[in-house]
Amino acid sequence: MVSWKEEYSVGVSELDEQHKSLFGLLDKLSAAIEQKDKLSLGYIVTSLELYVVFHFTSEEHLLAKYGYPGLAKQEQEHGVFKARVARYKAEMSKGDKIALAGEIRQYLHDWLVGHIIDQDKKYSAFMIEKRGGG
Ligand SMILES: [Fe+2]
Repeated sequence: MVSWKEEYSVGVSELDEQHKSLFGLLDKLSAAIEQKDKLSLGYIVTSLELYVVFHFTSEEHLLAKYGYPGLAKQEQEHGVFKARVARYKAEMSKGDKIALAGEIRQYLHDWLVGHIIDQDKKYSAFMIEKRGGG
C-alpha cells in the first residue's frame, strides 16, 4: 500500500488532493504489478504520466500566481521528472513490462516523497501566508 501521509501536507488543499491522487495511482500500479496484469500496466503508467503533467502545471500556476520565489527550482525538478516518466512510458512498449513497472513504481514513489519533503514543503508557509491557508 502506497499512501499519502499527513506529514506530506503542503498546506494547500487542492495540491494535497492532487498528491493523494498520485499516490492512489501508484497504489493501482502496485496492484497491477502484484496481479501481473500486463494489460493495465501501460494504461496506469500513461495515466500517471498525464496526471503528473496536470499536477505540475497546477502547482506551478499557483506558485507563479502568488509570486513564490522558489518557482524556478520547482520547474526545473518537475522538468527532469516529466522527462524521466516519458522515457519510462516509451520503454514500457518493449522489454519486461512487470520488471520495468516495478522499477517505475519505486522511482516514482521515492521521487515523489523526496520532492514533497524537500521542495514542496518549502512553499507551504509562504502559500499559507499568501492565501490564508486551505
Ligand atoms: Fe513540486
